[in-house]
Amino acid sequence: MPKALLCTSFGPPETLVVTDQAAAPLGPGQIRMRVRAAGVNFPDTLMIANKYQFKPPLPFAPGGECAGTVLEVAPGVDRFAPGDRVIALPGWGAFAEDLVVDAAQVSRTPAGMDDITAAAFVFTYGTTYHALVQRAQLRPGETLLVLGAAGGVGLAAVELGKALGARVIAAASSPAKLAVARDHGADAVIDYGADDLRQALKALCPAGPDVIYDPVGGAYSEAALRSIAWNGRFLVVGFAAGSIPSVPLNLALLKGCAIVGVFWGAFTAREPGLAQANLDALAALHQAGRIRPHVSATYPLAAGGAALRALIDRQATGKLVITMA
Ligand SMILES: NC(=O)c1ccc[n+]([C@@H]2O[C@H](COP(=O)([O-])OP(=O)(O)OC[C@H]3O[C@@H](n4cnc5c(N)ncnc54)[C@H](OP(=O)(O)O)[C@@H]3O)[C@@H](O)[C@H]2O)c1
Repeated sequence: MPKALLCTSFGPPETLVVTDQAAAPLGPGQIRMRVRAAGVNFPDTLMIANKYQFKPPLPFAPGGECAGTVLEVAPGVDRFAPGDRVIALPGWGAFAEDLVVDAAQVSRTPAGMDDITAAAFVFTYGTTYHALVQRAQLRPGETLLVLGAAGGVGLAAVELGKALGARVIAAASSPAKLAVARDHGADAVIDYGADDLRQALKALCPAGPDVIYDPVGGAYSEAALRSIAWNGRFLVVGFAAGSIPSVPLNLALLKGCAIVGVFWGAFTAREPGLAQANLDALAALHQAGRIRPHVSATYPLAAGGAALRALIDRQATGKLVITMA
């Protein structure tokens, strides 16, 4: 029987249990896939603690993103056939060997991409491409500041910022994390674990960054916003630090800047054509070797809880991936 890593009651990652789970029946418009690898994302940590906007009924397997092979398709599903290599974004359920998912949430794995990379690709790069291209309209020659620059979406922002022609300043909490950001293309770095973010920015970028990519929140957001350039765009991506900052709105007036929300999940539902075009552009960048998803560790399914723990404890760089035997 296929195995799944289940959340049976809301709590920390240590409460997840590996369980044999009977294969779910296939509904209309769905496919069944054999999951080979599942990417770990920050929302997984929130979902098992019942702190996320989507609340699946218990018991459920977390895991919003995976790659594998199609086993079976429902009658009428003609986009996929058994044997196809695919990426799925089911919301949850991917920390499992067998996954039934709506075909609408499935896309083909880009040519030449292995399953581990494919499981670590769409969520972070899709979010970040949408943020930088559609929301910030980042232009070549502009300066991009990335907070949490060695994390999942942060490292994607470093790479995509460079691919789009920006000067990238990476900010993170330790020299080791900044070394990863440099290795992925950052032009300059700030260790906000040791140095004052505003002072360091003033030295590196006197006019301030044109675009700020903020997946962290907490105290860094306002400090960064106070440094933004005239006509700057501040991207609200996430709140990994745990607290949602309240910034004085007069800052937007004084700086002549825009505070811009990014909600990739809603974007893909509302603008599926543009979301697919973004994925095609990302696949082309990957094929050309201009982006290089960084998977810093893989875990077997039974140790999936440890992957979530590493993310919560701020230990991870790039992406963590759970692999199925
Ligand atoms: N808006 C959207 O559509 C969208 C899409 C995807 C993700 N997100 C959000 O983006 C955020 C980051 O996601 P991710 O998957 O990239 O997570 P991640 O890999 O864990 O990266 C988050 C980074 O935040 C920093 N951080 C600061 N305080 C932290 C704390 N208390 N706990 C954990 N990390 C902390 C860490 O960098 P330092 O140690 O260097 O500070 C870490 O590398 C999450 O809030 C997620 O929900 C939003």
